[in-house]
Amino acid sequence: MFPTHRPRRLRRTPAVRRLVAETSVAPRQLVLPMFVKEGVTAPVPIASMPGVVQHDLDSLRRAAVEAVEAGVGGLMLFGVPTSRDAVGSAGSDPDGILNRALAAVAAEVGDATVVMSDCCLDEFTDHGHCGLLAADGHVDNDATLLAYRELAVAQARAGAQVVGPSGMMDGQVGAIREALDEADLADTAILAYSVKYTSAFYGPFRDAVESQLVGDRRTYQQDPANAREALREATLDLAEGADAVMIKPAMSYLDVVRQVAEIADVPVAAYQISGEYSMIEAAAANGWLDRRAAVLETLTSIRRAGADIVLTYWAVEAARWLREG
Ligand code: PBG
Repeated sequence: MFPTHRPRRLRRTPAVRRLVAETSVAPRQLVLPMFVKEGVTAPVPIASMPGVVQHDLDSLRRAAVEAVEAGVGGLMLFGVPTSRDAVGSAGSDPDGILNRALAAVAAEVGDATVVMSDCCLDEFTDHGHCGLLAADGHVDNDATLLAYRELAVAQARAGAQVVGPSGMMDGQVGAIREALDEADLADTAILAYSVKYTSAFYGPFRDAVESQLVGDRRTYQQDPANAREALREATLDLAEGADAVMIKPAMSYLDVVRQVAEIADVPVAAYQISGEYSMIEAAAANGWLDRRAAVLETLTSIRRAGADIVLTYWAVEAARWLREG
């Protein structure tokens, strides 16, 4: 008449709950994505991402130091240039905003955290696509690979210790690895955005980088309906030399994070993207949920799914909360 099994015994007190917790999140596992805008002298707020800004170079440096002090594991930098062209030339220009920012941050933080760069053309092209366009308007995979080679080398020379190819071109990891090695940059690591879905949740990011994209990215980003394809993408990237693989977005794809974690023999990252951030911020601003609890729950769930590393706009704040315990 009474239950023989009582799982509630292990939930009775905070101490027992702490003892039996299977998953934890540490500041060192969090990576902060940061935006830097050319031609501004003060940070510019991003309306659709309350609390996130487009930095000027000085505020970027200061924020990088703050992130280091909070114990954050890495920084992922994105550039917002003042002028864009069809081939995204500002991306590989050593004076381009992202490369200047990488140099500034690398000089500021040294080895105290890991400096990473988004290695993609969409922030630099006037059409907003992640690659170069052929005459008929489609994204030309192999021409884009040549551009990515230059981009990756420029970012590594500027100070990126890790480059993060995010354009979903076939062969991008192999092309970048070869270019880095040929440029004597064999120590630069590749965090491959191996599994990147076409997602409505990128919406606020497009504001953050002032994207001029018309249309969508469905010919290169994955269909949310597919999980097997994610394993194929990750396997290809591993064969091409990826040092770590990433799944993006995170929260709607936790099953994919788990499946990739099961086959990967390198660290697995997941990117909690702009829309995932803004959704919780908006609900919290309305008093509809407890912000801190919600954020920590999402980070825990992404770790539980199998991610070793989580990219999140809450990295610094979450790191502070985690230290408070
Ligand atoms: C492409 C890139 C994107 C994001 C990171 N790298 C945008 C896209 O593919 O449309 C999105 C990040 C976010 O939404 O937070 N360079």
